Amino acid sequence: MSLVSTSTPGVHHENFQFRCIACGDLSDAARQDFRCGQCGDLLEITYPSWKNAKPDAEKLKSTWQKRRLSPNPVDLSGVWRYRDLLPALEDEQQVITLREGNTPLYELPQCARVTGVPRLFAKHQGMNPTGSFKDAGMTVAATFARRAGFRWVACASTGNTSASMAAYAARGGMRSLVMVPEGKISWSKLSQALDYGAVTCQLRTDFDGCLKLLQELVRKAPVYQLNSINPFRLEGQKTLAIELLEQLDWKPPDHIIVPGGNLGNSSAIGKALLEMRDLGLISRLPKLSVIQAEGANALVRTLREAGGNRLISVPAETRATAIRIGNPASWKKAAHVLEATGGACEQVSELEIAQAKAEIGAEGIGCEPASAVTLAGLKKLVKQGFVKLDETVVLVLTGNLLKDPDFTIDFHRGDMFGGGQEAAALEPLRHPPMVLDASLDAVMRTLERFN
Ligand code: F0G
Repeated sequence: MSLVSTSTPGVHHENFQFRCIACGDLSDAARQDFRCGQCGDLLEITYPSWKNAKPDAEKLKSTWQKRRLSPNPVDLSGVWRYRDLLPALEDEQQVITLREGNTPLYELPQCARVTGVPRLFAKHQGMNPTGSFKDAGMTVAATFARRAGFRWVACASTGNTSASMAAYAARGGMRSLVMVPEGKISWSKLSQALDYGAVTCQLRTDFDGCLKLLQELVRKAPVYQLNSINPFRLEGQKTLAIELLEQLDWKPPDHIIVPGGNLGNSSAIGKALLEMRDLGLISRLPKLSVIQAEGANALVRTLREAGGNRLISVPAETRATAIRIGNPASWKKAAHVLEATGGACEQVSELEIAQAKAEIGAEGIGCEPASAVTLAGLKKLVKQGFVKLDETVVLVLTGNLLKDPDFTIDFHRGDMFGGGQEAAALEPLRHPPMVLDASLDAVMRTLERFN
C-alpha cells in the first residue's frame, strides 16, 4: 500500500513525444532503431505539456521527500521516485525495479587535499544493484520494452550495460541478447550477464562494431534495443542529477564531472540539468564536464578539431575498457549539453587514470578505472584554472571497484607501466600483497616495516 498517491504521476502517457535532435521532427512513436524517420539522427524525449502547465517546483520537492517514507516499490526506487519528470506509465505495476538509484554522495577529503579543492564530492553510481550507473536507465527502458510487448531485449556493451540489461530482463521475464567485443571487457562484468541468463555473444570486433551490428539486427528482428541510443535509457539516467541536487538541498554545485564513452550519461545528466533549470528546481546551471581516456578521445578531438560540427572517430585503446569507444553514438547530444552548461572536455593518460583510481580507492570507496578519469580530469581542469579552488565539485563515479579486479591487482602488484620514471611516481600508492611464513615473527616484522 502506498502512503503517497501515485495516480497522477505528472506527465501523462500522451504527453511525451520523441524529438529528433537534428531536424526537430516530432513523433508520438519511435521506430525500433530509435532513429528519426526523416533524417536518421537520434531522438530525445520531450514533454510538450510542460510548456503550458509546468509542474510546480516546490510541490515536486515535497512529493519526492514524502515518497521516501513510502514502502511502495516505485517510491523505494531512486529513479521512479522522480517519475513526475519521466515518461508516464498507466500502471505502476508495470515497473521493473531492483531499487536502483538511492546512491550515496560521499565527501572525498583525501582527494580534496590532492587537488586543492576542499568541497569535493563523489556521487557513487557504482552502488547501484548491478554495480553501475546503467541501472538507473535500464529500469525505465526495460519497463517500456516489456510494456511494448517485446520478448527479447539486446545491447552492445563494454560490459556494464550488458550486466544491467541482463538483470532487468530477468526480473521482467524477458530474454536478453548481449553482444560484447571478444577479449576486451572485464570478466567480472561478463559473469553478471551469464548469471542473469543472457545469451552472451563475444564478437570478433570492438564495441563500435557490436553497436553497428545491433542497429542492423533491430531492423530485422523483433528485438528491443537497450543501448543508450534508446531515449528511455537517458530519461532514467537523468535521475542521477535530480537525486544529486536533492542531496545538496537544491544548491547546485559549480561543477559536475563525468566520464565519456558512448556519451549517453553526460547527455542524460545535461538534459536533467537543463530541465531542472527550466522547471525552477534549480536557479543556476552547474558546468558539466566530460573526461575521456587519451586513447578513446573522440569527443575531445571532435570539439577541438572540428568545432563540434562533425564527429572525429578514433581507433579506441585504453585499459579503462568501459570507455574503450571510438565512435560515440550520442556525441551531438553531449556536445550540446557541454555548450549549454559551459562545461569542458578533457583527456587523461593511462597513468593518470591508474593514479586517480588508487587515490579514490585510498578513500575507502573505490571505483572502476573508467570512473577514475573524473578525478584525473579534475586535476587538469584545476591546473588550467577552469575549476577554481573555492568551487564545489561533484565527480560522478560510474562503476564499482569490483567490476574490474584485474586492473586493480595489476596496479598494486606493479604489473602496469613497466619500470619507467613516470611509473615510479605511482610507487607510494601501491599496496602489493605479500607472501609470508605463517609465523608471528614474520607478521610483527611486517607491521614494524609499515609503521
Ligand atoms: N563509466 C562506466 C563504468 C561505463 O560502463 C561507461 C559506459 C561509461 C563510464 C561511459 O558512459 O557511454 O554513457 O558515456 N559503458 C557502456 C557499456 C558503453 O556498454 O557498459 P557513456
